[in-house]
Amino acid sequence: MASRATMYGCGLLTLVLMCALGSCDDKKLRTTNADAAFARWGNPVYYYLDPAFTLAEVNMINQAINSITASLSSCVTFSPVPASSSLFKIKFTPLTGGPGSPPQTYCFAVPGVNITARQTGTEQIVSLARGPTGCLDSYCSIMKYLAICLGKRNEHQRGDRDSWITVQSDANLAVPGAYTKYTATQAYWSRFPYDYCSITHNQPTDFAKTGIPAFTIPAGKLPGFIPKLCTLSTTDCQLISMMRGCNPSLCANISCASQTPTTSTALTTALTTALTTPATTTTGPTTTLAPCLTDICSTYPDEATRLVDGRIMVFAGMCAQELDPVTNKKKGAAIQISDLFSGGVTGPLQAVWQTSATQLRILTQAGTQYVCTGTSCSTETATKTASAVTSVFETVSNPGASPTWPATTYTVDSSGITYYDDSDPVTPLYVSGAIGNSIPALGSWTAVYRTNTLDTSGFSSPPAEIINVIGKDLGGVVVLQPMVYSTIPFPGFGFPSAAVPAQTTAMWC
Ligand SMILES: *[C@@H]1O[C@H](CO)[C@@H](O)[C@H](O)[C@H]1NC(C)=O
Ligand SMILES: *[C@@H]1O[C@H](CO)[C@@H](O)[C@H](O)[C@H]1NC(C)=O
Repeated sequence: MASRATMYGCGLLTLVLMCALGSCDDKKLRTTNADAAFARWGNPVYYYLDPAFTLAEVNMINQAINSITASLSSCVTFSPVPASSSLFKIKFTPLTGGPGSPPQTYCFAVPGVNITARQTGTEQIVSLARGPTGCLDSYCSIMKYLAICLGKRNEHQRGDRDSWITVQSDANLAVPGAYTKYTATQAYWSRFPYDYCSITHNQPTDFAKTGIPAFTIPAGKLPGFIPKLCTLSTTDCQLISMMRGCNPSLCANISCASQTPTTSTALTTALTTALTTPATTTTGPTTTLAPCLTDICSTYPDEATRLVDGRIMVFAGMCAQELDPVTNKKKGAAIQISDLFSGGVTGPLQAVWQTSATQLRILTQAGTQYVCTGTSCSTETATKTASAVTSVFETVSNPGASPTWPATTYTVDSSGITYYDDSDPVTPLYVSGAIGNSIPALGSWTAVYRTNTLDTSGFSSPPAEIINVIGKDLGGVVVLQPMVYSTIPFPGFGFPSAAVPAQTTAMWC
């Protein structure tokens, strides 16, 4: 449709304009797992290519996929499936519709799974347009859209970018609004320094009027130009790795400041040479799991739970780590989720909750649900939809002693901020905004778990039931709020008499 090109208008090295033009609210710019509209893709990311692509274009797209996968040490893989597959997948296309439809003008991708599309269909498109405003000139240009699919945001729209690039006024841009800054509530950027080398960084000619660069780089800022590296930059890689529970220390160390136009070209050439073997279209998901970090403190937790044996586990990506239930500090090294549970359970997980004294339920981000006795699991018909929940947690009516079952089960919705009693999934019980300054750093909850061994001294009255909240701040840093607890019956949380600041990773790692 005509408005789409306007909405997503992109230059050769482009950006997703949707948010720049104000058509999405702030949550959509946050990390995918907290995002009401866009969920994180599972692993592998399923896709198929429009048969309209030429063989040369197919090879270029496969090269982009290989290069992204290599940049991420195979922690994220892309797996081709038939167009007819019922798996939810990306359709890469140069067209605006079916066979014979008009070509796309611009390239665009949205930052994650379009939840609406997943609820109503089996695919969402990533536009890879041909021509001067497209991105089929090289696999390097295509990589940007893969990075966006994995959740990276446009570097040049960071709220602090004015210290790093001087952008023309809208009137002097070919596409007004193309460089609108993210606000602090839309995106978080301060965890990593400004990155001229990000694969998402526009070139000065993008959205520029003829003869008027869209932006300039102030004197003295190295490397003084925007290198177009045919690889994820170090911080692109670290950010995506952290979002996906992968090991950011495996990311290649590329010094951006020391890039020169020549070395950038050399790097491009070297990578091109290294990646001349196109991916076959029959490559399946990798069976080699990326190693787990010794701790997962600096990654996003997907979920946390209390196991039936009392262990508190935090899950991120393919890995799990035990927390000490009293100190909330990590206990031992992170392990593969597939080593913790039998029955083929593998991350990333969306929700884990206890349903009886011996029984656990697991919902993976891919939508498979397991019922487990202890840690021995088998699949069952899913009772929850992964895209509709951020976390599921249970409470028990007798903390500190033998829990009384059945427990009450609560589901945090996909916004990550509202939760529901499962016996009444319609009436929201709580919105985290109401907690106000007691969890200042939490943009959302990604994981909630029950513990009945928290130190309750300082509380005005003993809590009947206790839960913990693990979240992440907007930069992806895990924040633990161990003193948030609930008293049942609802409404509301009880709080310690004195304000307790949210704990940061340092306090539990
Ligand atoms: C998400 O998918 C729905 C349904 O296909 C579609 O109408 C909507 O435009 C998509 N959103 C974006 C931002 O692409
Ligand atoms: C990366 O390279 C830079 C410059 O070459 C160096 O200062 C830095 O210590 C390196 N970092 C790592 C993690 O190796």
